[in-house]
Amino acid sequence: MFRDDLLRDQTILITGGGSGLGRAMAERCAGLEAAVAVVGRRPGPLEETADALRDGGGRAAWASCDVRDPQQLAAATERLEEELGPFTALVNNAAGNFLAPSEDLSANAFDTVVKIVLYGTFHATQLLGRRWIERRSGGVVLSILTPYAWMGSPFVLPSACAKAGVLALTRSLAIEWATYGIRLNAIAPGPFPTDGAFSRLMPPGMAEAAKRANPLGRFGEPAELADLAAFLLSPMAAYVNGECVTIDGGQWLKQGQEFGGFTDLPRDQVKATMAAMRPGKRG
Ligand code: HXC
Repeated sequence: MFRDDLLRDQTILITGGGSGLGRAMAERCAGLEAAVAVVGRRPGPLEETADALRDGGGRAAWASCDVRDPQQLAAATERLEEELGPFTALVNNAAGNFLAPSEDLSANAFDTVVKIVLYGTFHATQLLGRRWIERRSGGVVLSILTPYAWMGSPFVLPSACAKAGVLALTRSLAIEWATYGIRLNAIAPGPFPTDGAFSRLMPPGMAEAAKRANPLGRFGEPAELADLAAFLLSPMAAYVNGECVTIDGGQWLKQGQEFGGFTDLPRDQVKATMAAMRPGKRG
């Protein structure tokens, strides 16, 4: 689908890039010849990811830092730019989340998730945005959301509030910073089976039912999301700005549609039910 060197001139910073969807995007970007830097809290997965990218012939580096702390982020990105050259793109992927009844959340629990997801995105975006404005280089920002950023969702309140904030940030800065050649977009993935997300969000024994409930009858493949990210980061998407692209098999649409639940029943049963309701057929 893509030219092998689609991202050749890019140096991309991926937060939370050591595992899950972050790592999948790092691999895809490096495979398309971008230089890739991954940051996150745990050195082990970051080092392993950067080593794997280099083993595959890519240019890669890593640094451990907490996106909640702007000073740590600034120091890490300075070191990484010395190693790989100036960043041209940022992927805000780092997240924190867990299932919990909202009435039981402590103030610190709410704070923790919002600081990782919303503040972390703001810190990283402002940090690189300032450099791009100063250098007059332009830049690209891609943030990872989820459809409940606009739908809301029970039992993940801090994440829902934070993701809604990141959507607002994306749309606001897409306009404000367009004059500097900086474009911002987002991807809203539905269920993708990564350890980080599923260990916290998918109760044991519920995966099969969740798959069946998806209009396409399956979860997403991380490689599918990585392809979409590569496109949005690339010059092919140069005129895409302020957009959020959903990749969820149609799940959120189905949830919001009055009669979407019919698709969970055997189609013969649905047809028989509807046929029986036609005028003249009712008993
Ligand atoms: C209630 C909880 C909790 C839980 C933590 N807390 N887990 N409260 N239920 N399950 C509370 C703690 O008690 C504490 O509050 C506060 O949150 C901070 O917890 P810590 O463990 O000290 O924080 P920290 O070590 O920084 O860990 C952050 C974390 C953790 C978010 C809690 O889960 C984490 O590191 N996650 C990173 C990876 C991740 O979450 N990935 C999933 C993203 S998936 P008190 O008051 O006790 O001090 C995603 C996909 C969405 O977002 C799309 C789905 C379709």
